[in-house]
Amino acid sequence: MTGAGPEGARTVKLRFEDDHAVEFPVEPGQTVLEAAEAAEVFLASQCRVGSCGTCLASLLSGSTRTVAGRTLSLLPSEQEAGARLLCSTEVDGDATFELGYDSGLASQRPALLRAVVTGVQQVSGTVVELRLELADEIPPVVHAAGQYARLRVPGTDQWRSYSMAGTARALPELVFCVKLIPGGAMSAYLERAVPGDELEVEYPLGGFSLRGGTGQHVFVAGGTGLAPVLAMVDELRERRGPKPPVLVCFACQSGEDLFGAAELRMRAFWMPGLTLRIGVTEGDPPDEETTRGTPVSLLGEEPLAPDAEAYVCGPPGMVAAAADRLTALGMAAHRVHAEKFVPTDT
Ligand SMILES: Cc1cc2nc3c(=O)[nH]c(=O)nc-3n(C[C@H](O)[C@H](O)[C@H](O)COP(=O)(O)OP(=O)(O)OC[C@H]3O[C@@H](n4cnc5c(N)ncnc54)[C@H](O)[C@@H]3O)c2cc1C
Ligand code: FES
Repeated sequence: MTGAGPEGARTVKLRFEDDHAVEFPVEPGQTVLEAAEAAEVFLASQCRVGSCGTCLASLLSGSTRTVAGRTLSLLPSEQEAGARLLCSTEVDGDATFELGYDSGLASQRPALLRAVVTGVQQVSGTVVELRLELADEIPPVVHAAGQYARLRVPGTDQWRSYSMAGTARALPELVFCVKLIPGGAMSAYLERAVPGDELEVEYPLGGFSLRGGTGQHVFVAGGTGLAPVLAMVDELRERRGPKPPVLVCFACQSGEDLFGAAELRMRAFWMPGLTLRIGVTEGDPPDEETTRGTPVSLLGEEPLAPDAEAYVCGPPGMVAAAADRLTALGMAAHRVHAEKFVPTDT
């Protein structure tokens, strides 16, 4: 079917990175994201109002409209190049989109599970490591390193997203690295959290995951953006066979904020192909192995190999700067994969 009339359902086709495709109808007034969910296709999404960029897709054919009244986080130039946010996109006729992750991550409905706090530890001046154990039976879902879970702030109806710092091997344990935000709902809870507390968890979510490939894997992490990077590095280490060369560029604001350096160095000890660059953006580095720099400046000046893939995670500004720098170093834009830690109220 092509080009349905203005009043009828349209057909949308989604093509995933593993070349699988799905088709479903979109009713007038429905966004592509809503129509996908009605068809049991669960795409990566977060804010659902066009601000976080999680539901990004590329329009391959067809004509689309932005939901009235929405201000999108996409630049006009990105929209001209075909970028679309599916939570805020309606279609005028049949349309085809391409997504930057595998179909396996979209074919599963995230589960709502109970979890028990097993550890809450302040690991730097501003970061808390939260350990949970899932208390309900875990459904047979794909848990890819790099994905996130949503946690309900106990005693409220507010939910917050956190990337998981471990691989599926660690289940039923989930580990999170959370930056404490003064006045934040989850941050306030974490200051009083104790082992034994119960939380609700929606799991697993998101399309930030390793894309395969044997070229160099470049990870760029700012602050608690390290969490999914630890999981991805562990997934590479757990895989059988030869490992790709890995570069991790990780920085925190200051020596007081820095966390995770020992965990990274332990991984470098286990993985001879892992090169580490750890930095602090301000003040004196806390030791000789840490330098002064941002996650982006730690990338250095050397051009990247054409088969390299990059995985970037942290605050939106840092992610945008890293993507610019990686492309300036010769990386094709479609090889840069990112997760932005967008605040819930953005
Ligand atoms: C997919 C995804 C994964 C994420 N993973 C992680 C993770 O692994 N670790 C992590 O620490 N965070 C992560 N975040 C961010 C996290 O979801 C929360 O936004 C953050 O923890 C703040 O929650 P809160 O309840 O403490 O503060 P809120 O109650 O949400 O915010 C309080 C106030 O602080 C502002 N604010 C929120 N965050 C910031 C910030 N970083 N800087 C300045 N002001 C801010 C808000 O706009 C608001 O005005 C992720 C976000 C997304 C979308
Ligand atoms: S879910 Fe679409 S932009 Fe956030």
